[in-house]
Amino acid sequence: MSEVKDTRKVTIKAFRFNAETDYLPYTKQYEMEVGKDELILDLMNRIKWEHDGSFSYRRSCRHGICGACAIKVNGKSVLACKQNAIELLNLFDNDITLEPSSKKRAIKDLIIDKTDFWDKHAAVKPFIVADIDPRPASESKQSVAQFNALLDADLCIQCGACHYACPALEVNDAFLGPAALAAAYRFTADTRDEATEERLQITFESGSGVWDCVKCFECAEACPKEVNPIEKIGKLHNMQFEHGVAVSNVATRHAEGFLRGMKKTGYLDEADIVTYSEGYLGMYKHLGTALKMMKTGKIHWHSGIPFIDSIPKIKNLDEVQKLIAISQTNKL
Ligand code: FES
Repeated sequence: MSEVKDTRKVTIKAFRFNAETDYLPYTKQYEMEVGKDELILDLMNRIKWEHDGSFSYRRSCRHGICGACAIKVNGKSVLACKQNAIELLNLFDNDITLEPSSKKRAIKDLIIDKTDFWDKHAAVKPFIVADIDPRPASESKQSVAQFNALLDADLCIQCGACHYACPALEVNDAFLGPAALAAAYRFTADTRDEATEERLQITFESGSGVWDCVKCFECAEACPKEVNPIEKIGKLHNMQFEHGVAVSNVATRHAEGFLRGMKKTGYLDEADIVTYSEGYLGMYKHLGTALKMMKTGKIHWHSGIPFIDSIPKIKNLDEVQKLIAISQTNKL
């Protein structure tokens, strides 16, 4: 009977870079036997302890609590101290490269400069704002429902995995990003907090707030603690309407136009969304895109012209309208 091997000989690649001495990063390879119970953090430790003492990374708790060990493996965000190594070796056909969460912020190997993350986190007032009686007669009570409304957002360990997986942030430095916005939701949803309007205003700002999220769900995918930041961003949208913070602008009219089209035809009416959110004059800005969309059949020459219904109605439109009516939670 052949013996089942508990280890596998692999070559681990690691991103290496020292901002003080290197002009460009490079990749180094390390051969080792990997056991079935080893974590990615174990492999990082072994590179440092058995191969090269200068290999640098952050880690502290080794229990998925401190968030220090967040890195990427072949572009996939992981907490090194939670991620089984063999699982990833199987996923990537034995070919894995350990990388920092954000290569452009690398200081030394897997260590990155998280200044932008912490600045944005601080910008949303990530604490309860309240006039606290220093000698309260009783504790602050919350119902189970009130507590559950913020529970999963409270699980965030500030590892930055979602922040550095967010494509909107990569192209828009001003965007607060999913982690800061999830923190904003966590404290705004807390019944003890008194900064609701202020925080909603911060997260409404054009360019930096929730309306600049592109809804790609990368943050939900990257989060190792299942905080689901995109869901919290959606909740902040709703709260902004409920508290009268959301005003009519291109972003809110875009959301409204989306809903309007779905209600009218059951389809996404791209041309109508543009005319509704930016007006007929605004359409000229998008002429180039419109021509490309016409070529691929996504819109027609008469799309966006008033009084011509260019989008047919979906077969069970009444069903779609009922679904919208029962699921719509905001006051668009
Ligand atoms: Fe603390 Fe991994 S070392 S979360």
